[in-house]
Amino acid sequence: MAPSPSNLASMAKIATHESVYPPAEDSFLLVDALAALWDDELARSRPKLCIELGTGSGYIACSNALLARAHGCGDVTRTRASDINPDAVAACRATCEAHGVSGTECATALGDLLEPHADALADAGGCDVLVFNPPYVVTPSEEVGGRGIEASWAGGARGREVLDRLLPSVRSALAPRGMFLCILLAQNEPEEVMEIMRRDGLRCSLVSSCNADEEALFVLRCDRDA
Ligand SMILES: C[S@@+](CC[C@H](N)C(=O)[O-])C[C@H]1O[C@@H](n2cnc3c(N)ncnc32)[C@H](O)[C@@H]1O
Repeated sequence: MAPSPSNLASMAKIATHESVYPPAEDSFLLVDALAALWDDELARSRPKLCIELGTGSGYIACSNALLARAHGCGDVTRTRASDINPDAVAACRATCEAHGVSGTECATALGDLLEPHADALADAGGCDVLVFNPPYVVTPSEEVGGRGIEASWAGGARGREVLDRLLPSVRSALAPRGMFLCILLAQNEPEEVMEIMRRDGLRCSLVSSCNADEEALFVLRCDRDA
């Protein structure tokens, strides 16, 4: 079933800031994958904790909270969104407020990758859905590690330097039956990323793709079995 746009954050209400990545083809591809999951297995499994890393404008995190609500999980599902860029954290909160999404439904935090979620992960016994649209563009390594707009795209060698720091922690961050959704570019070598995740015992597949501005983008899904 095609996701209903009314269950997603509205572009007219997305907070914008010069140093924050605005929703683009990669964001839409990831939200569509998430919405399709909500229409099917997430509506049944009723996830308790969903985390978006690198939330940018908050488009994906806010949409997740709205999807949870639309599927009768507004009182069950807690979304957490974080970013290394303080302007993005503020934008995510503003986007949520513009959509009437409370700080309980979607909490925001500043910090590197999973670090701001350590307590929530420990309390919940892992997250049910972990989402990341990482900085995936191939750039010189020196461009990686900033906290401004360059953090949106600068991925260093093979566009993998930020993602590769996260991969070893994914399995332990997931609850039993938790899933990880991530955007990959063809240059990021998706087959190798899947091999790394499979070595950690996760089931992996590329669930959707699109061609955007001469880039081939994929959504990687990795599942932790119970
Ligand atoms: C491609 S943008 C995606 C933004 C948004 N999620 C979307 O899809 O529209 C990547 C985001 O990751 C953030 N980011 C980069 N490195 C990070 C890190 N180490 N920890 C957390 N966030 C990071 C950037 O600041 C940026 O907001």
